[in-house]
Formats: sequence, C-alpha cells, structure tokens
Amino acid sequence: MSARTALITGGTSGIGKATAEILHNRGYRVAVTGQRPESVARAREELPDDVLVLRADARSLADTDTVVSEVGARFGSLTTLFLNAGVSRPMTLDTGDEAGYDEVFAVNTKGVFFTLVKALPLLSDGASVIVTVGIGATRSLTGNSVTAGSHAAMLGMIPTLALELAPRGIRVNAVSPGFTDTPMTRTSLRAQSDDVAATMAAMAEKNPLGRLAVPEDIAGTVAFLASDDAAYITGQELVVSGGAGMTL
Ligand SMILES: NC(=O)c1ccc[n+]([C@@H]2O[C@H](COP(=O)([O-])OP(=O)(O)OC[C@H]3O[C@@H](n4cnc5c(N)ncnc54)[C@H](OP(=O)(O)O)[C@@H]3O)[C@@H](O)[C@H]2O)c1
Repeated sequence: MSARTALITGGTSGIGKATAEILHNRGYRVAVTGQRPESVARAREELPDDVLVLRADARSLADTDTVVSEVGARFGSLTTLFLNAGVSRPMTLDTGDEAGYDEVFAVNTKGVFFTLVKALPLLSDGASVIVTVGIGATRSLTGNSVTAGSHAAMLGMIPTLALELAPRGIRVNAVSPGFTDTPMTRTSLRAQSDDVAATMAAMAEKNPLGRLAVPEDIAGTVAFLASDDAAYITGQELVVSGGAGMTL
C-alpha cells in the first residue's frame, strides 16, 4: 500500500493535534498548521519529530499556497485532508462587530473552501477530506449566531463538494463535535464564568452520556472517516456529541 499522508489545518492544539497524534500512530506521514508562533513552537515540541509543523494563517491564500507547496515537496501527495482550523467568537446582536464577523467567516468558511481548492492537485484519487463543523451550526445558543452561520455555510457546501469530487473517488464529509474540552472551549468559558471547572461540570451533567467530549473522541471519528472502513461514506455529517442536541 502506498504511504498514507495527512494535512491537518489547525493541528497545533485541541482536536487537530489529537488527530495528528492518532494518524501518526497509525502510520501516516502528517503535516499540521497553526497560526500563532507560540502554538506552532509548542506543537513542534509536543508532536513527534517527523510531523511537519507549519505556521500559516488559514485566511491567507498566499500562506495556503506555501503550505501546499511545502507539503507537496515533503509528501508528494495527500490521502487525507482534515480542514479543522477554526475560531469561535461569541457575539450577540448587541455586541457583534464587523471585524469579528469577518474573521469568523474568513477562517471557518473562506479558509476551508480555498484550502481545499488549493490542495486539490495534491489529493490522491480516493482521498478523504474531512471538515470540522459543529453541532451549533443547526442549534440555538446565545452569542453563537455568527460562528454557527459560518459552520452552517460549510455544512451547506459538503454535499456539492462531495458530488464534484466523486468522479475521482475523493470523499468529503463533515464531523460535528459537541462541546469538547479544548483550549478554545476553556478560553471562551473563561470569558463568561469565574469558575470554569464548575461550568464544565454543569455542562457535562446535561450531556446524555454525562461528560464533555475529549479531543480524542473527535480525532477517532476523523481517523475512521479517513480510513477504508468509511470507503462508501461521502457527503455526510457525522455528529460526535455524546447525544447532545438530540432531545426536544
Ligand atoms: N471545542 C469545541 O467544543 C468545538 C465544538 C464544535 C466545533 N469545534 C471546531 O473544532 C475545530 C478545532 O477547534 P478546537 O476546539 O480543537 O480549538 P483549539 O484547540 O483552539 O484549536 C484551533 C486550531 O485552529 C488553529 N487556528 C485558529 N485560527 C487559525 C487561523 N487563522 N489560521 C490557521 N490556524 C488557525 C489554531 O491555531 P493557533 O492556536 O495557532 O491559533 C489551532 O491549531 C474548530 O474549527 C472549532 O470551530 C470545536
């Protein structure tokens, strides 16, 4: 079998980093991106030495060109593309601002679409593309309208992207996490609560399975979608929420 290779955007922390670790353990050659120099430096220390860690802003098409060129030079081709770089910016109708709105859509929607466009020449026939969305895309949560809208836009693209790439056997699916214990979740809870641990415990209690997700819950699902076990799944959203969002 030819080498399995993966590019993970937003792979320097949380869900993306856990996915890099799982895929690397399964024999993939892995490249990850992150935006902030400190998160890139930390990922270089914490991930295995042969994981390629690149600094790139998902909003920048020029940065994406550089990533594709460096990954192409290192791996030749890609069998998995995990489009996971994302931001969450809580804003209500009272607090919403144009810069925040533009940032959220630039990273979560435009960045995802154009990374796929630019990575296409590297994707092997039969490759798997997975996009991180989120259960909030189709559910209500105060302050989440803009982030939800950016994810819902991606969700709307998935079936058509899957159809356009089906002739090459390339599968395109979305994975939708529920609340997951990552730096993003902890940062946004810190802005709303003095006692993050108590807030997380209360959120866990409301979840049907009684806990928040850990990054490995989502990473395992991404690894499944990347694998031949998911060879006949395309154009779908796989929800990984411990049952959150299923009750009336
Ligand atoms: N955690 C949840 O409960 C949850 C729920 C639903 C969906 N999600 C989605 O899951 C994905 C991963 O989030 P996470 O929870 O694992 O959070 P995280 O630990 O904060 O990871 C986010 C990753 O995205 C990268 N990133 C952010 N902005 C970027 C940019 N402009 N260019 C390139 N990379 C950028 C970050 O790099 P830097 O650190 O360098 O910025 C980091 O590697 C996101 O798309 C998020 O919307 C998360």
